[in-house]
Amino acid sequence: MRVARLVATAISISIMAGMAIGCATGIGGQRESAMEEISSANKILGAMAKSGAFDKTEASEQAELIASKLETFKNLFPEGSQNADGAADAAIWTDRTGFETVRMTARDAALKVAAADDAASFASAYSTLSTACGSCHSKYRVDY
Ligand code: HEC
Repeated sequence: MRVARLVATAISISIMAGMAIGCATGIGGQRESAMEEISSANKILGAMAKSGAFDKTEASEQAELIASKLETFKNLFPEGSQNADGAADAAIWTDRTGFETVRMTARDAALKVAAADDAASFASAYSTLSTACGSCHSKYRVDY
């Protein structure tokens, strides 16, 4: 027990040290930066949905970024990386099929947003995407 905790502490210290010097090379850091990029793109889309001022080029660009980050997300949770960051829920490893399903649902929703041609289809696709973010978080992200 105590050894495990010490190891976990050592790992999290080295991750924090890595982030402190600005190189999030650890897998936990890669997850966080992927999600942060998703989040910034999502904020732009959210503001667009709210204002109703649809800009197809911008919407496609941001939604494609989300889709491609969700693609890379597939490889960021290998066996043994359960404790690489504090926010990934253990359910990712115990229910990989469920995790993959919500990941693909969200990725497909992002591609629909990217393909939207007018404000109405954008708004509807964006709402589906937001639901998909939430359904992954509610099961596979630790509340913090
Ligand atoms: C397939 C699952 C999944 C989907 C889909 C998903 N997320 Fe996440 N998200 C996670 C997990 C797991 C974490 C915690 C892991 C981490 O940050 O290392 C997270 C963390 C975050 C964080 C916190 C980032 C940080 O600094 O740690 C934000 C913000 C976020 N997600 C936004 C979004 C948005 C917006 C969407 C939809 C466009 C989305 N997520 C879709 C699984 C998902």
